[in-house]
Amino acid sequence: MQVETLILGAGAAGMMCAAHAGPDVLVIDHAKAPGEKIRISGGGRCNFTNLHASPANFISANPHFCKSALSRYTQWDFIDLLARHGITWHEKTLGQLFCDGKSPQIIAMLQNEMAAAGAALWLKTEMKKLSHDGTLFIAHLDRDGQNITMTARNVVVATGGKSIPKMGATGLAYDIARQFGHAVTDTRPALVPLTFSDNPFAELSGVAVPARLSAGSTSFDEALLFTHRGLSGPAILQISSYWREGEEIIADLLPDVPLANLLRDRRREAGKRKLASELAHYLPARLVAHLSKEMQIEGNLADQSDARLAELDAALHHLVLKPNGSEGYRTAEVTLGGISTAGLSSQTMMSATVPGLYFIGEALDVTGWLGGYNFQWAWSSGWAAGQAI
Ligand code: FDA
Repeated sequence: MQVETLILGAGAAGMMCAAHAGPDVLVIDHAKAPGEKIRISGGGRCNFTNLHASPANFISANPHFCKSALSRYTQWDFIDLLARHGITWHEKTLGQLFCDGKSPQIIAMLQNEMAAAGAALWLKTEMKKLSHDGTLFIAHLDRDGQNITMTARNVVVATGGKSIPKMGATGLAYDIARQFGHAVTDTRPALVPLTFSDNPFAELSGVAVPARLSAGSTSFDEALLFTHRGLSGPAILQISSYWREGEEIIADLLPDVPLANLLRDRRREAGKRKLASELAHYLPARLVAHLSKEMQIEGNLADQSDARLAELDAALHHLVLKPNGSEGYRTAEVTLGGISTAGLSSQTMMSATVPGLYFIGEALDVTGWLGGYNFQWAWSSGWAAGQAI
């Protein structure tokens, strides 16, 4: 059997590419259904893009690589596509756009776009072996137990990263990249909760607080969530992409709050108030209780000297966290790193050395922040390859 273009992976990037790669396209996926990560994303409402998406929101050894695709297929193009399909949406926070309805709407939209373009979809299909005879690719497929040899002029690798193996994530994209002479950078779980050897925050499980977390020179202001395993919440997921084992994360638990000044004023007005009760105006009471021993939060406001209030202010703006690891690919939303962009065209996503071989989506060494950026990269890179084909 022969097709013009064989796309491996019916996820966000593969389906977007198929909708633009012209007729005679076959998309294969080993899963039972397409777009499984779209379905579970954003708590079932899919955070499909971000109003503020720009190259600054992506991590890559080459920060310029993502610019071309992101500027030619933008968040506004995807929003237009939703409008054409009558899918309504809302902004939740920080430019993050979610469906008003459920995420399967996005999957259905992409399937309709693929069908309109004439692309076929084979589910429960594995790629056993891929080779190139100098003109065509030869793919040995197992379609639900049936062996099929498929030749194709173009192969688009859109099988994603390693995160959530339970959902069918495999390293196939990296294997194909290496087979055809492309480098793969170190990969690690990202947008992932962080763990501690003996979780000092276990008693705080369920407590959330707005915080500014910093790793090196990067910081994020978002919610920090204490869990029975360690730390999670958007602030931790964001900073996990920048943190490395052995390093510290600095938590400012009161971003932009001039605590010492405020407490000095309160000491004048209500010196008999307990310090802990006063702090509970700014932080969850359970967190104040937890920190009270380490930070000697005791006595009335009147008992606190200016120096003591300044010390407390500094401590709450600079809590040192030392995670020992992360929850790993089991729960990571994305894979940091991947197929090196060095051997690829940023215009088309095509290999510079193997004409007709394309890599798109999360498999590449292009990783977005939390907040709809990773789907935007899937749409933009998928569209760029589709246009080129
Ligand atoms: P994706 O993983 O979507 O698709 C790859 C496809 O290839 C899958 O269908 C898989 O079955 C198939 N495949 C893999 N190996 C194969 C093999 N060997 N043979 C055949 N098929 C194979 N991002 C965002 O922007 N907003 C959000 O709200 C979320 N939320 C979110 C929640 C959770 C729980 C996770 C795990 C991830 C997110 N993400 C996200 C990240 C986002 O889902 C991810 O970046 C994109 O789905 C990547 O799109 P791709 O098409 O590159 O891979």
